Amino acid sequence: MRGLRGKRVLVTGAAGGIGAATVKRFCEEGCSVWALDRDAAGLESLAAALVEAGLGAQLAGSSVTDVADPVAVAAAFAELHATWPSLDVLINNAGISSRRRFLELELDEWRRMLDVNLTGLFLVGQTAARAMAAAGSGVIVNMGSMNALIGCPNYAHYNASKAGVVELTKTMALELAPAVRVLSVCPGAVRTPMQEAEYTAAMFAALDAKIPLQRHGSPDEIAALFAFLASEEAPYVCGTSIVIDGGESSGGLASAANEEL
Ligand SMILES: NC(=O)c1ccc[n+]([C@@H]2O[C@H](COP(=O)([O-])OP(=O)(O)OC[C@H]3O[C@@H](n4cnc5c(N)ncnc54)[C@H](O)[C@@H]3O)[C@@H](O)[C@H]2O)c1
Repeated sequence: MRGLRGKRVLVTGAAGGIGAATVKRFCEEGCSVWALDRDAAGLESLAAALVEAGLGAQLAGSSVTDVADPVAVAAAFAELHATWPSLDVLINNAGISSRRRFLELELDEWRRMLDVNLTGLFLVGQTAARAMAAAGSGVIVNMGSMNALIGCPNYAHYNASKAGVVELTKTMALELAPAVRVLSVCPGAVRTPMQEAEYTAAMFAALDAKIPLQRHGSPDEIAALFAFLASEEAPYVCGTSIVIDGGESSGGLASAANEEL
């Protein structure tokens, strides 16, 4: 992608399905990447995989950090700023999910979801944005979800956290433009450890049948969108939410599985 070579890129949730693919993609684009995740072993595996792929030199550093912990986030940025005074791109991707009926949702589970998916994204986003605003440039891509845009049973807490991300993104974009470009990405179903933990084989098959492209997305496909949006190929994309869902949100009741309706 035009304009990515040499850029300093922070990826959160870097050890996970989409995060690890994103780190690899930006390394392949010639960026210098900082990987942040709460999973120390996952970050070690990621670093080893990058070395194996001949991309080890692109990894500038990593931080074992819980994004929901303001003290830990400040410490991670202190470490990052010792290497980089500012950063060019933030992929604000870390997130959790759990499947729970609304009537059974406990306050602790609700709070943890909002703490990680919304407050954590805010903490990392604000700290990065302060450095970018001072430097006069930057791009922040926040991880939303298709669940932010349409209702989805069993995920009230997750849906609410992601709807918050989409709205937070718009406000960040308005306040940080023109120096810093902010937008969000809203994927549909992507096959990652997050989904593997919640879906059975039968659930995967039923969901795939309802998606117009008849399959889940891959982490690499989301990573490619991140790379495009962060590059000079997308300088006029700002504030909005980019949906990447295999057509899922276009159909509703008229999706492939419901043609008789
Ligand atoms: N998989 C999907 O279908 C899908 C769809 C839409 C949006 N998303 C979003 O994409 C993002 C990545 O999801 P994924 O599918 O790759 O999941 P994943 O579980 O494979 O990866 C998530 C990563 O985030 C890390 N993480 C979780 N909580 C953290 C915290 N408090 N601090 C730091 N790191 C933390 C995990 O350790 C893990 O490495 C999430 O925000 C998720 O909500 C996923």
